[in-house]
Amino acid sequence: MESLLIKGGVPLHGDVVISGAKNAVLPIMAAALLTREPCVIRRVPDLSDVRFMGQILTWLGAEVKMEPGTIRICARKIKGSGDYDLVRKMRGSICIMGPLLGRLRKATVSLPGGCVIGARPINLHLKGFEALGAKIRIERGYVQAQARKLVGAPMFLGGRAGSTVLGTANVMMAATLAEGVTVIESAACEPEIVDLANFLNAMGARIAGAGSPTVTITGVKELHGAEHEVIPDRIEAATYAIAAAVTNGEVTLHGARADHMRAVIDKLNEAGVAVERRGASMTVRRNGRLKAVDVTTLPYAGFPTDVQAQFMALMAVTPGISIITERIFESRFMHVSELTRLGADIEIEGPSAIIKGGKPLSGAPVMASDLRASAALVLAGLAARGTTQVNRVYHLDRGYERMDEKLRKLGARVQRIEES
Ligand code: EPU
Repeated sequence: MESLLIKGGVPLHGDVVISGAKNAVLPIMAAALLTREPCVIRRVPDLSDVRFMGQILTWLGAEVKMEPGTIRICARKIKGSGDYDLVRKMRGSICIMGPLLGRLRKATVSLPGGCVIGARPINLHLKGFEALGAKIRIERGYVQAQARKLVGAPMFLGGRAGSTVLGTANVMMAATLAEGVTVIESAACEPEIVDLANFLNAMGARIAGAGSPTVTITGVKELHGAEHEVIPDRIEAATYAIAAAVTNGEVTLHGARADHMRAVIDKLNEAGVAVERRGASMTVRRNGRLKAVDVTTLPYAGFPTDVQAQFMALMAVTPGISIITERIFESRFMHVSELTRLGADIEIEGPSAIIKGGKPLSGAPVMASDLRASAALVLAGLAARGTTQVNRVYHLDRGYERMDEKLRKLGARVQRIEES
């Protein structure tokens, strides 16, 4: 297993190009299962999650060709069920279910388990499939959806924590090939849903309202091949913006979409971080002293849960008290104990973390537990005195394209080593 060795205390300076969005490209790859014709996806980040999704599609019978930045997928002939449990390994791959159900009228996948950030049920995905006429069976750890025909229907997909991103994606994909009109109320409004809808519409689907809580899908007989460029990763962009702020440097993010990052930019501004937009790039630097601010994670357009851990690293070095409340996942605070190892003063009270910021951080060996927690530890390591070793860096490689390389280009002293 590999680790990152970070010698902290260097302000980051320079330019970073933002990669394509992981959480957009995964459902878009799955959507290519909806047609027999070839699809071309561009601005694809080189991530282990993307390679894994490629393996799943190949396993299902699709031809998948990966070139740097581009994936070509042709799902001429595919199978909809089988004895495979790949989905358990990567939760994001649950979004093959909608396309399989849409195209073949049946889908069997292993039931995804919970993960370190929470229980992660799929009841809302299944509720949507049932509303379209599918029968759902759960047996021996597998979930099976089957329908003689899919018929569009109105449905409400709001849950305990609000909308569901992959649930909306899954139902939207199945509904493209249903008979008649489907209306999803309380749909997720994330930019990744809009990107998926744009790709589906380019394939011949008829989807209106994506990006709002009401999405209307008028079913069509079949979809055709299409080409698509994935949106830039707003979570990666936010992570590098925080890297600039936490190290007191100045970083220009190229290709980042400020219109997808309003809540994060607003909180950065409130915390004393200037974000200056120039065309398709934005430059991030501190604007005087940092200020402690409170943050609550919410579905889009609220503050993203995927930036919560990284923002906490920033608040850990910011004098004053801040309260960060996690409203999407019930146990997404695995980074707290590791940040504490670096000297941060953080206590958890129910869904909130109370950060008494401004204590000097000093390097230590820490353990990454999930993707965004790993990113937070890297950020804290960049700000800490001495050397921080972030173990289990494979979590980071799931969702950040060559993060160590990008950080080195900004002047960070980061090295990838074999874990000892
Ligand atoms: N939920 C239900 N029932 C469901 C589905 C979800 O109760 O059927 C609950 C979840 O337990 C959670 C909330 O709804 O409390 C939101 O979960 P959502 O379904 O929106 O999450 P997801 O679609 O499984 C995607 C991203 C996550 C990101 C969340 C929230 C992908 C591949 N994953 O997951 O990304 O945190 O949306 O924005 O798109 C990451 O990139 O690190 C990551 C975890």
